[in-house]
Amino acid sequence: MSTAPQSKDQLIIFDTTLRDGEQSPGASMTRDEKVRIAKMLEKMKVDVIEAGFAIASPGDFEAVKAVAEVVKDSTVCSLARAVPADIEKAGEAIKPANSGRIHTFIATSPIHMQYKLMMEPDQVLERAVEMVKLARNLCDDVEFSLEDGSRSEFEFQSRIIEAVINAGASTINIPDTVGYGEPDEYGLMFKRLIENVPNADKAIFSTHCHNDLGLAVANSLSAVMNGVRQVECTINGLGERAGNASLEEIVMAVRTRSDVFPVETHIDPVHIVPTSRLVSSITGFPVQPNKAIVGANAFAHESGIHQDGVLKHRETYEIMKAEDVGWNTNKLVLGKHSGRAAVKARFEDLGISFQTQQELDEAFAKFKELADKKHEIFDEDLQALVSDSTAPEIEEKYGFSNLEAISKSGNKPRASLTINAAGEDFSSEAEGDGLVDAAFKAIEKVVHSDAELQLYLVNAVTQGTDSLGDVTVRLQKEGVIVNGQGSDTDIIVASVKAYLNALNLLAAGVLKSHPQKDCV
Ligand code: KIV
Ligand code: ZN
Repeated sequence: MSTAPQSKDQLIIFDTTLRDGEQSPGASMTRDEKVRIAKMLEKMKVDVIEAGFAIASPGDFEAVKAVAEVVKDSTVCSLARAVPADIEKAGEAIKPANSGRIHTFIATSPIHMQYKLMMEPDQVLERAVEMVKLARNLCDDVEFSLEDGSRSEFEFQSRIIEAVINAGASTINIPDTVGYGEPDEYGLMFKRLIENVPNADKAIFSTHCHNDLGLAVANSLSAVMNGVRQVECTINGLGERAGNASLEEIVMAVRTRSDVFPVETHIDPVHIVPTSRLVSSITGFPVQPNKAIVGANAFAHESGIHQDGVLKHRETYEIMKAEDVGWNTNKLVLGKHSGRAAVKARFEDLGISFQTQQELDEAFAKFKELADKKHEIFDEDLQALVSDSTAPEIEEKYGFSNLEAISKSGNKPRASLTINAAGEDFSSEAEGDGLVDAAFKAIEKVVHSDAELQLYLVNAVTQGTDSLGDVTVRLQKEGVIVNGQGSDTDIIVASVKAYLNALNLLAAGVLKSHPQKDCV
């Protein structure tokens, strides 16, 4: 018996890695980093890219504008509180976009209105309508969010939604801001609103879920089952506190269970894993090995029974193909004999392009240097190489040479190195609790940075003991956060490179302060 193909609605994928994702403490991104990620999202065919919060800082304004200038195929959006200055800034930032959107929000739950906004519901409604109208004067595409919407009262939700749709909002987002929602209840909330708000058919309803109870993806999918046609999500589930619903999980759930979900997306999933890696290397947030879709073990079978089953018939234990989401697509393994064209092409496949010939030459030289040490070069190695080579162009105040690190049973580990600070060489040595600690202490004896080490992270980029070690060092000084990056086959060298890179970023004033910390 054959069943007639069901027609599917389009599910709009709204990625907010560059805005809500950036709100994870320490995950702030520079303008150029945002542009690199945005280009990958565009390649993946994300429908809407929320590039930032234009009013939050001059840096974020520039980042949204830069993304609006380069992205052609996705809609580029800026967040704005429901205040005129925010909306005007957002409108200015997205002006260069082929297709732009202003996303404005105000809290609608009793607790937020009373204690945070100190406004009566009628005042909130009036403000929302005025601000949607203002936004519509600047841009045809306006989204309105009821902040803390999942804890708001039905009567008020209905009134404000009807009013902002009449004022010109074409997307209505009801976030589960504090991650309190439960799938059935959250889904039914949408069903009831879509059925009862008189002009609901004039707007697309949207979900935006936080993961405080680990339910962000379940809540988003329940919303979809109840009529929602836009999901707001982030790569690797990055986001404020416990994060947002993860893009890769939403997209692959809808695709893999197309027998259940009445929707399809435009997403080309083959770019998922490279994008996940890019976001992880830029933010310094590692992906846990057992993370669905993008974790290193997501497609690994350890138990003998499973391995046997997969060898006999893949579908016994696999519901998706690893290649479909971008694993193992790297058929072309690069090595020391690979030419510039092959290396450049592979970089481009990974979403990494070079603005100048000199940048390409530098990346190629690093590639050759690595190929001398390591037999086969994989995608992960190339990603790690460019975390160095496409990092923000800064003047390097600190460099190092002559690193010696000694670890001997029974003795305290000891590191000595020569630090070049502003053109002058200083020798330094120190003991520590491990070689990395000793090396960092030796650096600090010269630099006296007063910075606080917030994160030290080592990632073996590929399998094998000859793997590149990719190190992230996050330093914080006077509210400014920087992520230094370094990679090398020698972990101590990679660590020193990452620490000095972080110090150089601090010295150069490459600010990564929390983008919304001054917005209340
Ligand atoms: O979580 C939230 O409520 C938000 C809104 C600003 C959309 O991020
Ligand atoms: Zn949010």
